[in-house]
Amino acid sequence: MDTIKLTERYIAHTYKRQPITIVKGRGMFLWDSTGRRYLDFVAGVAVCSLGHCHPDVVRAITTQAKKLMHVSNLYHIQPQAELAALLAKIAPSPVDKFFFCNSGAEAVEAALKLAVKHTKKKRIIAMQGSFHGRTTLAVGATWKPSYREPFQALIPDVFDFVPFNDLAAAERAIGDQTAAIIVEPVQGEGGVNVPSRDYLPGLRKICDENGLLLICDEVQTGLGRTGKWFACEHWRVTPDEITMAKALGGGFPIGCLGAKPEIMDSFSPGDHASTFGGNPLACAAAIASLKTMQRLRLPQRAAKLGRYFLRRLEELAEKHDCIKEARGIGLILGLEMSEKSIAESVVAKARERGYLINCTADKVLRFVPPLIVERKHIDSLISELDRIIAEVKK
Ligand SMILES: Cc1ncc(COP(=O)(O)O)c(C=O)c1O
Repeated sequence: MDTIKLTERYIAHTYKRQPITIVKGRGMFLWDSTGRRYLDFVAGVAVCSLGHCHPDVVRAITTQAKKLMHVSNLYHIQPQAELAALLAKIAPSPVDKFFFCNSGAEAVEAALKLAVKHTKKKRIIAMQGSFHGRTTLAVGATWKPSYREPFQALIPDVFDFVPFNDLAAAERAIGDQTAAIIVEPVQGEGGVNVPSRDYLPGLRKICDENGLLLICDEVQTGLGRTGKWFACEHWRVTPDEITMAKALGGGFPIGCLGAKPEIMDSFSPGDHASTFGGNPLACAAAIASLKTMQRLRLPQRAAKLGRYFLRRLEELAEKHDCIKEARGIGLILGLEMSEKSIAESVVAKARERGYLINCTADKVLRFVPPLIVERKHIDSLISELDRIIAEVKK
């Protein structure tokens, strides 16, 4: 049986999958099982910032796999300690203590538990349009009703949603039980929404004045994608807690919560844990990824290429009236189409012509390529999108 038939028969139907099977990747390119090549602007959903199968990451994983793969957190783990020390240099000071897990949702879960443990309060302010993952606390903080409502019975009634980019609404939602505000500095799944200049600093001020923790979910925006190591740095804001995952392992699963030390110290043994979290293999992959991103100056590169890419998307938006807006920061960019059906057709046609892009928030084409993307790749995608959009809107 072929892969698509096996998937349909044996795998939970939790994803709407494109009808191709990817079997190989290198740099900016992916190949399917028929040998077709694709230029990848999805990067495994903002994961493969170094491109596919970067040799430094592959070498680190194979070397570590031969030495030690798993031992549990009952012992000290060399690559875990080294990774934490490296992250302490990258994360906005004074965030310099870390908890390692395996995914973004787990990092969010840890962040919320830590906020409640530290403040001894229990309510969380979250944003409309947010996405934080699929475990029960993370989905509880996620706005989209169709993700949340079928499981409402399992989700504690502790989340107060307010409109994104609205400081007055956030302030109004504060009660005497509010522990924290959780926010994506740039909303990813919500449609690539960049807030106004005063928003993050305003949230920081509100948190300080009311004794709340500010949690920045940087699972998608973190580690260089927006043009800085962390998106919150664009607004010179230091959160109390910061979540990361996606790009951290260069394609290998790893999640992480960072916090100011006096906050992280509210966790004591038994409060929170993960058998696989911070295992030697994942940490070796993450160390290699971070060091290679540093060596290649990928955050700076994302800022520069992102400016160019956005300009090219704006040109498309001026030309085609079915595009409502081009927006984003660094290499997390979106093109909001006038209709969902148009966005879906563009994704399908792009794939047929060898370009992988995806669509989020119903009708926003999202571009989160590897940060190694070059101008020639961007130009070639833009030319193809120009032709496709002209065809689709007919
Ligand atoms: C901002 C944000 N937080 C959390 C998550 C959940 O991460 P994961 O799918 O690794 O659990 C995502 C995933 O897209 C995300 O974009």
